[in-house]
Amino acid sequence: MSSKIESENKLFVKSHVPRDLLQNAALFKNEKLVIWEYVSNGLEYIEEGTNPIVFVTIDNRNKQISIKDNGRGMDWKGLQNFFIMHGENLDRKKGRPVRGMFGTGKSAAFGIAEVLRVRTVRNGKRSIVELLRSEVSKMNREDPIPVRTIDKEKPTEEENGTIIEIEDVHLQKLNQADVIKYIERHLAKWRNATVYVNNHECEISEPVSVSTYSFKPEGSLKDILGDVELTIRVAGEPLDKDLFGVSIYSNGIWHETTLAGIDGREMAQYIFGEIDVPKLDEDNSPITPFDLSRSMHLNPSNEIVRAIYTFIGSKADSVRRMLVKDEKERKASENAKKLAKQAESIADIINEDFQDFRSRLLKAKARGTKGFDTGTEKVSSGTNDDDLIFGSQIPAEIVEPQGDFGSEGGRRVSGKDPRTLSPQVTKGSPNSEKLGKPSNGEGNSSHSRGGFHVEFKPMSKDANRALYVGSERTIYINIEHPQLVCVFH
Ligand SMILES: Nc1ncnc2c1ncn2[C@@H]1O[C@H](COP(=O)(O)OP(=O)(O)OP(=O)(O)O)[C@@H](O)[C@H]1O
Ligand SMILES: [Mg+2]
Repeated sequence: MSSKIESENKLFVKSHVPRDLLQNAALFKNEKLVIWEYVSNGLEYIEEGTNPIVFVTIDNRNKQISIKDNGRGMDWKGLQNFFIMHGENLDRKKGRPVRGMFGTGKSAAFGIAEVLRVRTVRNGKRSIVELLRSEVSKMNREDPIPVRTIDKEKPTEEENGTIIEIEDVHLQKLNQADVIKYIERHLAKWRNATVYVNNHECEISEPVSVSTYSFKPEGSLKDILGDVELTIRVAGEPLDKDLFGVSIYSNGIWHETTLAGIDGREMAQYIFGEIDVPKLDEDNSPITPFDLSRSMHLNPSNEIVRAIYTFIGSKADSVRRMLVKDEKERKASENAKKLAKQAESIADIINEDFQDFRSRLLKAKARGTKGFDTGTEKVSSGTNDDDLIFGSQIPAEIVEPQGDFGSEGGRRVSGKDPRTLSPQVTKGSPNSEKLGKPSNGEGNSSHSRGGFHVEFKPMSKDANRALYVGSERTIYINIEHPQLVCVFH
């Protein structure tokens, strides 16, 4: 009696178990979150030395899902522990780092379905238990929820393992592809895990990287994060939204993927990578890094999380800046190549015109002097009409006994004194006397041909739009001239 009075006078924190179960279940809003919850249990709670294999069956027609594992299974005591909401994780208690943390995953089925059935075998004993959402929601007291027992520790030959059966799913359609994608994303760091969804074996897929950078924290960041390594990879192409970013793990468990503030900046979508920070999992500070929402977002108010973001943000940004610079250079050189090509075509047009003019001039000269016609013979590089000078290597015809204009003494026509320079020659027929030689002294075509060159060049906005440098026979076009800027940038 006295203890009753005592308890009435004291206050206790209690929980309304049915509401607790259903409110936690509500966090598992879709099939991928629900299925992953039981798959991760199946991969995690295994006998030492077992390679975990989990089979997921999604039956869209009957609105059923099953998740079968080859884990350690549960005896009756194990099942009692399984049904404790927010139960302490026994593996963690023993110091084994596992993903399970909150003791709420078991409720996931009620986020989308009516029935949760657990068939489990441990050491030759099989138990089957069942819980219905309708029964849970009918309970309006904070009492424990009775679980229906179908079989209790019945002897069996079956191997250890558990099958979770979820029935009467309320979703209109179960999206298998979405489930597979979600599982594959989570499996990235899970060692030796095999998961089948219907007949599909989940694969770990990572984008292909073209370069990789490693960073270690220093100073105060190292004090907070420990001796960890941040790996930043660069993809060869921009990545999809769910693939870029640095994945944050703790003891191989994925918690978030982030670009830590550089999202949306130029080239950021090429960056991916990972960091594993075991200290995150060990954190016992009052502001915890994780919550039970399965949101895949860490708590930025936690000190370690903040330090991780700072570390990732600064390093990812330094890689990003490098990429931006490289990209600019690449574009510039591509642009330069394009400009050079354009310059070449302009030069070709000018030279063709010049060549035409030149041969017309030569013909006129020939007619006016000795009746010699240069003909329409095409000239080739290295032995162009314009490139030949008087010599003894190449068959040539003399078109003018005197030097060309540009020689000392002024233009030939108007020059007062006849010049004593060598005669002018043009390419002759093969039988002609060898009266010519290439103007550069060589017989090959490696020298620059006698025509004009065109070059695009940044020469400042105040300089001329174009400039001809006679000594180089080059026309420079100023790509920084205001009239050209918009064309070339
Ligand atoms: N497939 C399984 N095989 C063996 N034991 C299991 C299995 N699933 C769950 N358990 C046991 O039941 C406990 C409760 O599971 P539950 O998923 O609810 O919580 P948790 O995994 O500890 O934490 P979290 O809520 O973060 O997932 C687990 O800690 C584990 O001991
Ligand atoms: Mg769990």
